[in-house]
This record gives sequence, structure tokens and C-alpha cells, in this order.
Amino acid sequence: MMAFTGHAGPLIMGFETSCDETAAAVVGAGTHVYSNVIATQHELHRRYAGVVPEIASRAHLQRIVPVAREALRDAGASFGDLDAVAVGHRPGLIGSLLVGTSAAKALAWSLGLKLIGVDHIVAHLHACFLGDDPARPWPYALGLVVSGGHTSLFRVRGPLDVVVLGRTLDDAVGEAYDKAGVILGLDYPGGPAIDRLANEGDDRAHDFPVAMLARDSLDFSFSGLKTALLYAVCGTRLERDASVLTRTQRADFAASFQRAAVSAIIAKVKRAVERLDVGTLIVGGGVSANSRLRAELETLSREHRIDLRLPAREYCVDNAAMIAGLAAARYAAGLFDGWTLSPSTRSAVQAWQR
Ligand code: KG4
Ligand code: ZN
Repeated sequence: MMAFTGHAGPLIMGFETSCDETAAAVVGAGTHVYSNVIATQHELHRRYAGVVPEIASRAHLQRIVPVAREALRDAGASFGDLDAVAVGHRPGLIGSLLVGTSAAKALAWSLGLKLIGVDHIVAHLHACFLGDDPARPWPYALGLVVSGGHTSLFRVRGPLDVVVLGRTLDDAVGEAYDKAGVILGLDYPGGPAIDRLANEGDDRAHDFPVAMLARDSLDFSFSGLKTALLYAVCGTRLERDASVLTRTQRADFAASFQRAAVSAIIAKVKRAVERLDVGTLIVGGGVSANSRLRAELETLSREHRIDLRLPAREYCVDNAAMIAGLAAARYAAGLFDGWTLSPSTRSAVQAWQR
């Protein structure tokens, strides 16, 4: 049996089943990733061009045990090495969350281990610290989570002190990307497909709207951008579809859409940076893998002399290493959950009270 001497802190197995990824990971001291197994369900949802909740929960049920075994095997660990079991129990699809939460409870109970529920959104903010020095505390920072379900800005004072400054009023940015992918007839999910195709296109070919909202707003809105693309591609009476487009026209739409989507995020990050006077920006979520967003965030951080913390690409999309990693902070604070831990569709992170 391997001795886990590479870290000083708890060895935690985490589960992530909030949407369409079945994931398990083993993480030491919050940042040392021993294993990170992700079983995506893209092939099951592709024909529906979106996640079908019932299909997702059934697939989680089939995969959760083999994924957990693989995570343990990859880590070279046995159940006896674990100190706690963690799960992202909110927010997400309720049936999907139920599978991960039940698995984590069953495992923790049967092994006599502590159970730790963590908020999936805050876990995305932890992703940029994976692989880092565990002794380094979370800095006072502005947090940005850009994913398929969320687009939010946070004031962050530590892993247990996160409040919402602004969020999307309608579609999440990843959701807008995925719907734009459907409009353009691209492979599912649309985010990575648009990111790739945009490289070939002219981002000034179309001038799509960038919703700024009220002058001091830190909220986002992406439904207008999605509708503008729909009308531009299909006509206002939806009389045609993307099949009539040449590859160049499609790439121009992708590039122009991406310019508008990224501009909307950058504009609000800039506002928040100026208002909060922060030295660090931490970013997470599937869309933080986007090449244009990463490049523009780097430029903005250089201009504002901000320490930018982007997750490694493997930790951008949903994974369980970020869950097990964040759980170490709750472990250190003695914040454990009982067997009544229940999933919830809503995040527990509160809005900032001015
Ligand atoms: O964080 P995540 O795995 O799941 C949620 O918590 O929602 O994010 C998935 C989202 C999808 O909408 C996907 O299209 C988007 O992240 N995404 C991207 C890229 N890679 C993934 N969007 C834009 N560019 C990318 N490279
Ligand atoms: Zn996520």
C-alpha cells in the first residue's frame, strides 16, 4: 500500500455529479491531486443538443461505482487511507445530485468517515489552486465563475467566505455558447466547437450586442446575444438554417459571437476590479477553458496589475478534484455534515448585502 506522504493534511475522496459528468477524485491537503476521473455523458445527450436530466441521472447511477473504484486505483489508495468523503451536493440537476450525494453518504457511513458537502460553484473557484502549495491561503480576490449553468462574480475572502456580486439574469454564458452551437449546426457541446471555429473567422464580420445593463450593474445577460445570432443566421422568420452557410460564413459568425460574449464578461470584470480594489482575480468553470477569454483576462490583469489565477484546462470543466480540494477547507474548520445532507438545485452562496 502506498503511504500518502506527499502532503500534510486530510486525504479526501470527492464526488461530482451535478450535471452530465460523473466524476470522482482523490485529493490530499486540498491541492495535491492523486487522481481525477471524469466520465462525460456527451455521447448520450448529443442527439438532444442539451442535457436530458433523466438520462443524466440514470447514467450517473450506472457509472458512479466504477468511476469511484478507478479514482481509488489511479491514486494507488485503498479505502482505509481516506480521511473523509466529499460531494458537490448543490446546485445542479436534482436527480443527478441525488446520485452523488447518496454515493458519498453510503461510502462515508460504511467506512466510518466524515461526510462533507460542498457548493459546486465555490468548488469551481478552488480549481485554480489545484496543484498549488497547500499552505498558501486563498487571497482576498474577485472571483469569476463562467460555466454552462452559471455566470457570476464574487467577492472572495477565503474558501468559506464567498458572496455574490453579480450574476446572469437569463442564460449562462456556456448555455449561450451551446445554443449558438446548435444555431450554427456545430458539434455538441457548442462551447469548445465555437472556440475552435472562431480561430478561422473574422470577429468583426458581425456586430452582435454586448449587454451592459445599468451603469453600476455587475450582472450579465446573454439571451439577447443568442437571439441576435439566431436572427442573423436563420432570418427573423426563421426561414433558413445554418446548412446554407459556407465554412467561412460559419466561422465569421462563431468569431463575432465569441467577441461579443467575451467582451460582456471582460466589461463586468473590469467594473468589479475597479470597484473592489482587489489584487487577485480567480476564475473557474467550463468557459474558463475558452482561448479568447483566457487571453483577454491575461491582458486585463496585466493592465490592472492583478494576479490572475486560471485553472489548468483539465480543471475548468466539472471535475471532482475541485470538490475534494475545497472540502479540505471545511475539514480544517471542522465543518462536517450529517446523514441528512440533501441535494439542492440552488447554490448556498449569498448575495452581498451592501
Ligand atoms: O463547468 P462546466 O463543465 O459545467 C457547468 O457547471 O455548467 O461547464 C460546461 C460549459 C458548457 O456550456 C461548455 O460548452 C462550456 O462550458 N465550454 C466552453 C469551452 N469549453 C467548455 N465554452 C467556450 N469555450 C470553450 N473552450
Ligand atoms: Zn460546473
